[in-house]
Amino acid sequence: MSGIITKISGPTVVAKGMRKSGMYNLVYVGGMRLIGEVIRIEGDSATIQVYEDTYGLKMGEEIIDTGEQLCIELGPGLLSSIFDGIQRPLAEIAGEYKSFIPTGVALPSLNRSRRWHFTPTVNPGDAVEEGDIIGAIQETTSIIHRVMVPQGFRGIIKDIAETDLLIEDKVAILEDGRDIRLIQKWPVRRPRPFKKKITSHTPFITGQRIIDTLFPVASGGSVIIPGGFGTGKTVLEQTLAKFAKSDVIIYIGCGERGNEIAEVLTYFPELIDPYTGYLLMDRTVLVVNTSNMPVAAREASIYTGITIGEYYRDMGYNVAILADSISRWAEAMREISGRLEELPGEEGFPMYLASRLASFYERAGMIECTDDGNRRGSITICTAISPPGGDFSEPVTQSALRVTGAMWALDTNLARRRHFPAISWGRSFSLYQLDDWFRENVADDWPEMRRWLMSLLQKEEELQDIVQLIGPDALRDQDRIVVETGHLIRENLLQQSPYSPVDAFCPMGKQYSMLKIFSRFYEIALKELGEGRDTDEIFTMERKMILKDLKNMPGEKFPAVTEEIMNRL
Ligand SMILES: Nc1ncnc2c1ncn2[C@@H]1O[C@H](COP(=O)(O)OP(=O)(O)OP(=O)(O)O)[C@@H](O)[C@H]1O
Ligand SMILES: [Mg+2]
Repeated sequence: MSGIITKISGPTVVAKGMRKSGMYNLVYVGGMRLIGEVIRIEGDSATIQVYEDTYGLKMGEEIIDTGEQLCIELGPGLLSSIFDGIQRPLAEIAGEYKSFIPTGVALPSLNRSRRWHFTPTVNPGDAVEEGDIIGAIQETTSIIHRVMVPQGFRGIIKDIAETDLLIEDKVAILEDGRDIRLIQKWPVRRPRPFKKKITSHTPFITGQRIIDTLFPVASGGSVIIPGGFGTGKTVLEQTLAKFAKSDVIIYIGCGERGNEIAEVLTYFPELIDPYTGYLLMDRTVLVVNTSNMPVAAREASIYTGITIGEYYRDMGYNVAILADSISRWAEAMREISGRLEELPGEEGFPMYLASRLASFYERAGMIECTDDGNRRGSITICTAISPPGGDFSEPVTQSALRVTGAMWALDTNLARRRHFPAISWGRSFSLYQLDDWFRENVADDWPEMRRWLMSLLQKEEELQDIVQLIGPDALRDQDRIVVETGHLIRENLLQQSPYSPVDAFCPMGKQYSMLKIFSRFYEIALKELGEGRDTDEIFTMERKMILKDLKNMPGEKFPAVTEEIMNRL
């Protein structure tokens, strides 16, 4: 099928002779064979969004419709790769072409010449169906790639053996003659199917105290991280990439500044995985698009990233999707919608902004991969949002807020005071019910301790308002204890540096001990106040130093040292 270009407007092209095209079909545009996707059909003409720079494209050039949808390749070799929004392998392109991304490049996403050692886990004669695991490949030092029967296959295995395979080789043959290959294709806009979604009661542990202690998200949940300019969204996403307890990390750099992405590209491949001691990239896939790459590829990058995530989820892994920032994705949608002259909604975003956001966040979740419930996987989505002017009432934040279960709100004032992570404890929330897990796995009184901390922080905030109005002298003595303790907690518990070798990741045991120590200290302070001591005698330099040192004590020392520290107080 082919058509002829009749109009070119930036990344949007109109062609005639496209009557037989289908929505979202993948097309090659012009002599340069630029990659594009059909996004509107009217009579004989189709509108195409082009994923590459249309510079030099001319009227009358040919459009070839592949008859297929935009698909990505799934198979071993995804991990440690760096792709652009439509899964072109950036490192290979850079090696081959010595420039960033030339147009019309047709390099395969996955390496065709690498051999993988395949070990079957089923035998000839076994009955298999879609989603079943038939064998394993050690994809990287940290992850075993579980080879699955592709969608639409069901039958008896006729031939399967331990061997070294190229990605396009047959890994198994069924009795009906069909064969299964290592590589699978999947249309990115279609969520991969699963047996059943289940409610997750396990937290997505991040090692960041303010998150795990106050606003934990379920593994399989979704959270937004809205924050104004320079409030630490990127640093937080990268901290999560490094420390969150997740088997596989998909990091989507979506439309951020080129130099920020360049930093990711140089910095990520060198990171050491704190859990395995190997490279972090061994369990990471990077999908990156900068603000200067074509806008349509940015729109696709979110789908590419989550589809790769779903593939590992289906193998039974816990996957984290970290996207920075979803606002740039929404802006790409706005730009494309504008070119299509669609009726604009709020602030120029298309009317379908909210539904697109909802269908993206719906791809999070914990699922049963099999009927017998023996394999579970999850996708947790953490997306940064960049509201213009830091104003959370804008459409992207508001629409995302309605469909996600938690918000870690970054606060400009905290960031200005260099309180990092600048997560506001007043505005953030989590709707996930995880108390039972914490009770069973951390401590019986975890929920109470957490409530104690939250109420102390709230009280402190109210008192701070009074202090602002009429000065500290107006406070009652008990209130002064709250303010002083709150201050110590903010500096020594809520603040946490991703750059400190000891404090970057705080294990749950240590988080609990720290909570206990601060609450004990608060009790002591109240008691001593009752005995007539004044605040200077209570908040001594020595005690402050003890609390300050907690951060820099290795997590393994807890809870052994907890009692001793309390005694020293
Ligand atoms: N957790 C942190 N610890 C220490 N410093 C931090 C932390 N988070 C952010 N910063 C400081 O703030 C700066 C801005 O952070 P970052 O680039 O993550 O912000 P951003 O919200 O992504 O900004 P933008 O809106 O420009 O994308 C960093 O360069 C760093 O100096
Ligand atoms: Mg940023």
